Amino acid sequence: MFICQQCGKESLQWLGRCPTCQQWNTFVETRVTSSAKSIKSSAPLRPARELSAVAIESTDRLSLPLHEFNRVLGGGIVPGSLVLVGGDPGIGKSTLLLQVSDLVTSVHGKVAYVSGEETQRQIKLRANRLGIKGDSLFLLSETDLTAVLEQVEVLSPGMVVVDSIQAMYLPELETSPGSITQVRECTARLMQWAKQSGVPVFITGHVTKEGAIAGPKTLEHIVDVVLYLEGDQLSAYRLLRCVKNRFGSTNEIGVFEMKEKGLTEVANPSQMFLSQRGTETIGSVIVPVLEGTRPLLVEVQALSNPTSFGQPRRTANGIDFNRLLLIAAVLSKRVGLKLGNQDILVNVTGGLKIEEPAADLGIALAIASSFRDLPIDPGTVAIGEVGLSGELRSVTQLDRRVNEAARLGFKRCLIPRTGVRSIPIPQGVELVTASTLREAVRVGLMNEKTPGGNTGSQPEDSDSSLF
Ligand SMILES: Nc1ncnc2c1ncn2[C@@H]1O[C@H](COP(=O)(O)OP(=O)(O)OP(=O)(O)O)[C@@H](O)[C@H]1O
Ligand SMILES: [Mg+2]
Ligand SMILES: [Zn+2]
Repeated sequence: MFICQQCGKESLQWLGRCPTCQQWNTFVETRVTSSAKSIKSSAPLRPARELSAVAIESTDRLSLPLHEFNRVLGGGIVPGSLVLVGGDPGIGKSTLLLQVSDLVTSVHGKVAYVSGEETQRQIKLRANRLGIKGDSLFLLSETDLTAVLEQVEVLSPGMVVVDSIQAMYLPELETSPGSITQVRECTARLMQWAKQSGVPVFITGHVTKEGAIAGPKTLEHIVDVVLYLEGDQLSAYRLLRCVKNRFGSTNEIGVFEMKEKGLTEVANPSQMFLSQRGTETIGSVIVPVLEGTRPLLVEVQALSNPTSFGQPRRTANGIDFNRLLLIAAVLSKRVGLKLGNQDILVNVTGGLKIEEPAADLGIALAIASSFRDLPIDPGTVAIGEVGLSGELRSVTQLDRRVNEAARLGFKRCLIPRTGVRSIPIPQGVELVTASTLREAVRVGLMNEKTPGGNTGSQPEDSDSSLF
């Protein structure tokens, strides 16, 4: 059989390009033995049972004194769950799991830490750096998963960590460790073990350059929870993002800072994202976005510059490229900014990726500000979705966003007019409303002649000199 190492598609003949995931040269010849099939069917047959008769053993989540971690998992570690922690090489996966293991040993008993990539000495060095003594933390340097599970059975720990799943193999499969068949079968085996023992299992996985967990997307279907540790290699901030959770909401993020002593929680992420903010307020807008249930203030920056030759270029960092095209088009057509011969760059600081349309207005204002070379009042945040006809649309959970802005001392919130009636106004915050993007740009940009900013009380036409 030939198996695609990216997505797991099977084929009887070699193919240059995978018809499923469109990747080139991903098919590898794999001997499929009957034992590979017998793994799947080795589970004992269990009779059907009525839902009402199913007994639940204590499913109390194990909550650790690491609040950001609990939050991402939806309140704590669920017994018997299989959690995949993915991330770029060197981002801090092993660090995170070693710290979590240490916390588990102090509240929940033994932990088995299986390392297929690092020697015990290496782990000890890291533990020393993190200040982890390691009582009740048992290291296993083994890559044969059958042997691992045998030893784990003897140890009977409260949690198992497998670092990384790509290093594990099952000897009965005749493919090399790290191949898609191995990774998939090893994960399935661990899942089976976690479910029957009720012990939570954490596995790590590398991420390919395309951003998926190496090899199989299929891995994400097998496990209960998928977490990604993200961040910039150059900055110390790390986001732990939940992309799948069978026991809680997804899109939750935890914010950490990588320090000498390991990952430490960031209690006030909005402040963190804004801490680097310069004094330049041209082309910079603060936007309250929601990550899961958590409001975060982020800075959106834009730069527009006349195109020197050829096609004008658009560059989007941290926002969707097509969203940028849409917003630029609306700014040209409905607001009257001549962006057709401008290169436009938009950047979200702090390495965050914004997916919500609620940031549209902020992006539009940042572009308009840079293009017009007019500053935006630094005490203002902007919230709103931009429609194709230039209208401002209301967004979900406006009150939480406004409250977060108020909490961090922002004085002015520029919001869609349609959203205003539904929310209580926090102390000391002025809500400025606009029904169109044109109007929002007019009230959002500070006019140099009136440094306090426009009040928005002028008639619609008096601003024609602006454009
Ligand atoms: N002395 C130190 N001070 C601060 N940060 C450090 C120090 N030593 C290592 N780090 C951080 O730890 C990171 C490596 O962490 P770790 O080995 O846990 O990553 P990983 O995701 O497990 O990597 P791999 O993919 O190789 O398994 C480095 O990128 C660095 O940010
Ligand atoms: Mg590692
Ligand atoms: Zn494929």
